[in-house]
Amino acid sequence: MSELIVSLAAIVGEAHVLTDADTQAPYLTDWLGKYRGAAAAIVRPGSTEEVAAVMALCAERKVPVVPQGGNTSMSGGATPDASGQAIVLSLTRMNRIRAIDSIGNTMTVEAGVVLAKVQEAAQAAERFFPLSLGAEGSCTIGGNLAANAGGVAVLRYGTMRELTLGLEVVLPDGRIWDGLTALRKDNTGYALRDLFIGSEGTLGIITGAVLKLFPRPTARATAFVAIDDASAALALLSSVRARCGDRLTAFEFMTGDCLALILHHIADARLPLGAMPPAAVLIELSDADDEPALTRRLEGALTEALEAGGALDAAIAQDGTQAKAFWRIREGVSETLVRAGKAAKHDVSVPVAAMADFVAAANAAVSAVLPGIRPIVFGHLGDGNLHYNLLPPAYLDEDEFAAQAPGLTRIVHDETRKRRGSISAEHGIGQLRVSEMPRCKAPIELELMASLKRLFDPDGRLNPGKLLPHPTET
Ligand code: FAD
Ligand code: MLT
Ligand code: ZN
Repeated sequence: MSELIVSLAAIVGEAHVLTDADTQAPYLTDWLGKYRGAAAAIVRPGSTEEVAAVMALCAERKVPVVPQGGNTSMSGGATPDASGQAIVLSLTRMNRIRAIDSIGNTMTVEAGVVLAKVQEAAQAAERFFPLSLGAEGSCTIGGNLAANAGGVAVLRYGTMRELTLGLEVVLPDGRIWDGLTALRKDNTGYALRDLFIGSEGTLGIITGAVLKLFPRPTARATAFVAIDDASAALALLSSVRARCGDRLTAFEFMTGDCLALILHHIADARLPLGAMPPAAVLIELSDADDEPALTRRLEGALTEALEAGGALDAAIAQDGTQAKAFWRIREGVSETLVRAGKAAKHDVSVPVAAMADFVAAANAAVSAVLPGIRPIVFGHLGDGNLHYNLLPPAYLDEDEFAAQAPGLTRIVHDETRKRRGSISAEHGIGQLRVSEMPRCKAPIELELMASLKRLFDPDGRLNPGKLLPHPTET
């Protein structure tokens, strides 16, 4: 056993330093199966003090550290490189809910608490924590924060940054920043909290957070609506919002090709419409109203759209079971894409009004390069965020397509940039998009980000190879 392993075991206990190949394996591959890394050890601290001691030891020995939560990153953000020099610091043992304040409407949690547990704890306290995404059964609050996760309720509640009041962070040298305040107003300088949120584990280890809680919605109304295309979806978004205001909680878009693929791969997914539409949206309203009133409101908005020709068909869920079945279709999409083969994944945002134009232009541009390519497009249309995935044409195998993927990605990102969009709306840069940063970020932004990185992590040991390109590439 190396001296490093012995010292790590002295901090967290021998049982929590994993060094054999079998126990390490799940920590070394990403959810999509795109990246495989190696590690000197997987280290599983049980407290903030243990994290601090591990970080101080790694600083002294110049050991790189890759923080990891639920390992559901869609950008290879939590997978170490292949050198085997880094440790993976898994926060999943830090899974305690420290406090709930039902007057201040806050919950204080450790970073390794699984998102679904936070939702359940909020519900048990007759409150609501709104972050919701397909991986909620395994992703952790620390990972949600480091990735500034979005999900399906951003339209109403915002991203993780907007859902957080305070943070506790261990710095790369082992010092602890206790920023666990529950203040809604604090104008005492630079917003360090907001800098750590979305930093993808490159500036510090998030060990705790104070989250905002909301009144629990007592009524929901859910509809699955057939439409022609993204342009029709935008018109429908506008009319539903005009009628329903901020009761509009989710507005999720799927093209017909995306729907067909889901129905093919997910055995229990059922289309709630008479025929396969060219595209569809899943709409959810929520409120403290009574449910029949909310359903009538949604019916009113959809009747208007059907009469005006903006919607082709619509199904409104009659109960919670039906609503769940509608969501099963939408939530099956990530699994579908894994089963369908390796997609070239993009997670772009553009101004909401430019989305239909973006889809048409990107489809035309990638098809011109690779005729028969299959765009599988879905996402959080209400937020201007589309998951623009590309599957190979029938005549290319997976490896041939993988060789073309970087060129296709540049085309998709160029269409995004033409509209002043972003190359990552919610999945982060990780290692998947890091080579695109010099092309897509202004030099001044890259320079400022690199300066911040040097300030927090002068040795560049924290999550190396993620988010920021190597200094020689900028
Ligand atoms: P990990 O994957 O373990 O890590 C993510 C990043 O955070 C890495 O860079 C890692 O180094 C860093 N990190 C983790 N923990 C810490 C910590 N304590 N301190 C510092 N850095 C840390 N994302 C969305 O935004 N919206 C979606 O709708 C969405 N849907 C998804 C659906 C599925 C089926 C899957 C598999 C993923 C989805 N994701 C989505 C992506 C992913 O789940 C989220 O980004 C999630 O927030 C990651 O949490 P995690 O705990 O798994 O983090
Ligand atoms: C989603 O919205 O379902 C996701 O962010 C996950 C994905 O892109 O596969
Ligand atoms: Zn998403």
